Amino acid sequence: MKEPILKMLGISKSFSTVEVLHNVDFTLNIGEIHGLVGQNGAGKSTLMKILNGVEVKDSGNIIIFGKEEEYNNPIQAREKGISMIFQEFSLVSSLTVSQNIFLTRESHNFLRLLKDKESEKNTIKILKELDVENINPNEYVENLGTGPQQIVEIAKALSHEPKILIMDEPTASLSSHEIESLFIVINKLKKRGISIIFVSHYLREIFEICDRVTVLRDGNKVFEEKILNTNLKEVIAKMTGKEQDLQVSKRKRQIDRSKPPLLEINNLVVGDIVKGISFKVWHGEIFGIAGLLGSGRSEIINSIYGVYKKKKGEIIIDEKRTSINSPNDAIRAGIAIVPEDRREHGLILDFSIKDNILFSVIKKILSFIFINDKKASKITNDSINKLNIKASGFWQVVKFLSGGNQQKVVVAKSLVTDSKILLLDDPSIGIDIQAKSEIMNIINDFVESGNGVIFVSSEFDELVSFCDRILVLKKGEVDSIVDCGIEANMSEEILLEKIQ
Ligand SMILES: Nc1ncnc2c1ncn2[C@@H]1O[C@H](COP(=O)(O)OP(=O)(O)OP(=O)(O)O)[C@@H](O)[C@H]1O
Ligand SMILES: [Mg+2]
Repeated sequence: MKEPILKMLGISKSFSTVEVLHNVDFTLNIGEIHGLVGQNGAGKSTLMKILNGVEVKDSGNIIIFGKEEEYNNPIQAREKGISMIFQEFSLVSSLTVSQNIFLTRESHNFLRLLKDKESEKNTIKILKELDVENINPNEYVENLGTGPQQIVEIAKALSHEPKILIMDEPTASLSSHEIESLFIVINKLKKRGISIIFVSHYLREIFEICDRVTVLRDGNKVFEEKILNTNLKEVIAKMTGKEQDLQVSKRKRQIDRSKPPLLEINNLVVGDIVKGISFKVWHGEIFGIAGLLGSGRSEIINSIYGVYKKKKGEIIIDEKRTSINSPNDAIRAGIAIVPEDRREHGLILDFSIKDNILFSVIKKILSFIFINDKKASKITNDSINKLNIKASGFWQVVKFLSGGNQQKVVVAKSLVTDSKILLLDDPSIGIDIQAKSEIMNIINDFVESGNGVIFVSSEFDELVSFCDRILVLKKGEVDSIVDCGIEANMSEEILLEKIQ
């Protein structure tokens, strides 16, 4: 056995007085794909940021190619052959694809500014290696969807020709097709001898692509094993510290469809993408929308919420025609949303958890003009407990939470409002399995008290296991609406077949 390319030994790290990594060991072999998993806030990103020089460890050693290395910024880390793709995108939206990919080099040594032409040539070469054909190097990043943006992030990291590549949840915003091509690329890189650390909440992906897996729990390394010697159940048990099964079983519900629906959408047209969609959602129902990336699923949700302009279409809520031209109209009509792009649209990053959550219920806690602090604290604390948000307290500033915990705050925000219709756009991206089942339990309770949910997800097993009916969306048109109740014989496979 060759000496590992990387050894991290006894790594500890605190933020102010809270220690978030306790004496963690992590090793990586040459040409290995090593999965790093753990629940939200377990310390995965922090450990990787230390390796990448973004954060500085308090104690411990980092040994690369047998040599102990000390460094404290990403440029030095890059010189040691380490590159990282961050959980949060780091692209500049007003620059082009190739300017983004070669940005760091330009600022690093601006006397040797790469000419745009040369950047473009190199960009084409990298994208070709990645087997990506549909991204134009001269396109502005702001015009790209999240999938292509993720590919640009990867291309950017690869442009540094790293020996060790860290991927922090690279698949979270990719479609299944894009994930497949990414896996082909990752395997190619592995063959070239690049060692990869792969952080993901999708354990199936870990089992598909990794050679080894390390589990962190509450800042401790609790498990490390070759993939061939372990299984899903064992990894979940190590992550949660519990043996229990986290699958939420589908609830049996009686939905009375002889009564008027809660929400009725008639002939909705949005831009050139959504071409005349109609459907109804009844009281007590979780209504799913399944479609490939670009099928128009986010456009439907966002136009119901008044973010996107409708060209045509009628929204009827409880038999009343409702005009919704802005999110404020939607909120007034009793609609809440968990948007797809949470960091950008869902949170005020510099505010505390409490302020973020309370923002959406300000009326509830205002008694005359004074904020009822007791009530406010109770609402926030309830949310933190219900969703198991890992934070030092409700006063913690949101930008210092782990990625998944930030998303839980967005979900919490939408759940504390008095809305009767909840729009969920891929609510569980980046959220760990325990929280996911907690969120689904809360949503089940929400509909069972007479409310309705529209649920968009790119994970078809998730749609099948929670929805009462699912609309199959193809290129902006309704292909079919399938029954998915507990007695219907619906499966992920059947749904996948339908969607093609
Ligand atoms: N800059 C910071 N200041 C204060 N606390 C921080 C900071 N960065 C991270 N933390 C805390 O450290 C802990 C670990 O966070 P980290 O981002 O490493 O988790 P993670 O395992 O990547 O979770 P996720 O799956 O949600 O991305 C969290 O409790 C988080 O709130
Ligand atoms: Mg993280």
